[in-house]
Amino acid sequence: MWFTSDPTFWMPAQASNHAALVDNIYYFLYWASVISFVACMFAGALFVLKYRAKNINDKALSQVDHSTTLELTWTLPVFAVAAVAFYFGVMGFVSMKTPPDDAYEVNVTAYKWAWAFNYANGHTDGNLHIPAGVPVKLTMSSDDVLHSFYVPAFRVKQDVVPGRYTQAWFEVTEPGEYQIFCTEYCGTKHSEMLAKVIVHTEDDFKKWLDSVGNILDRLPPEEAGKMLMTQRGCLACHSIDGAKGVGPTFKGSWGTTRKLADGSDQVMDENYVRQSIMEPQSQIVAGFPPVMPTFKGKLEDREITAIIAFIKSIK
Ligand code: CUA
Repeated sequence: MWFTSDPTFWMPAQASNHAALVDNIYYFLYWASVISFVACMFAGALFVLKYRAKNINDKALSQVDHSTTLELTWTLPVFAVAAVAFYFGVMGFVSMKTPPDDAYEVNVTAYKWAWAFNYANGHTDGNLHIPAGVPVKLTMSSDDVLHSFYVPAFRVKQDVVPGRYTQAWFEVTEPGEYQIFCTEYCGTKHSEMLAKVIVHTEDDFKKWLDSVGNILDRLPPEEAGKMLMTQRGCLACHSIDGAKGVGPTFKGSWGTTRKLADGSDQVMDENYVRQSIMEPQSQIVAGFPPVMPTFKGKLEDREITAIIAFIKSIK
């Protein structure tokens, strides 16, 4: 590794196994560019001074039509720089595209505008929890439009595409928290399509996975509902404190009558909430954009019941 894993002026800390590889090529190209820029500018300035016409009547200098030495002098170093960058680029690319067989797998669904990380025990989370020191493989797909999974500290960026699966993998040595961005423009709240990677020690990760399993059995419905809505990204658009969001706030909403986009009135009750989760476009509240994704097939009835319990509790 040429550079330290601490953050630099250009780069965040090198937190994954891929980071040093990416940075080394970046810095190699950066310094190659700096050196050739300075050399070109210096040579340019030198030639302007040395060969400038001293007298307006001087004849133009005769053209030199070929010099093999000169041609090779400026072709071979450029070729060498490109070849080195290509070699390390291919090595890095192959490594990033080849997850180890024993990688821990997490399924990822991107949708407008949140991430759902799905674990083998059925738990779905809005943040990506992973164990340290273990290769982690993400199998990703999108429910709606193109998104892109990006963790700058890992130097990992992978498009997430509707109708197909894409993969990314990485290994993180140290426990910590890292920022996930969506880096493909995907609509109104693209810039807020954020999540965290939370890296636990292996033991803590197992404890965490156990603790989040079966929340419906372990927690009172309001609490389970709140957890579900946080994990599924609902609260990114629907505030619980009255603040205006992409969708209506839940604060004090229960039992109120709202005007729908088609001019009719609708009471905020169990069936309305359920209908809005299953077919969000069917009863849009007037003044809000019809942008919510459907959760049909993604939330069980028990989970919807817990969500309703939570919405009821937001006074
Ligand atoms: Cu999702 Cu931008």
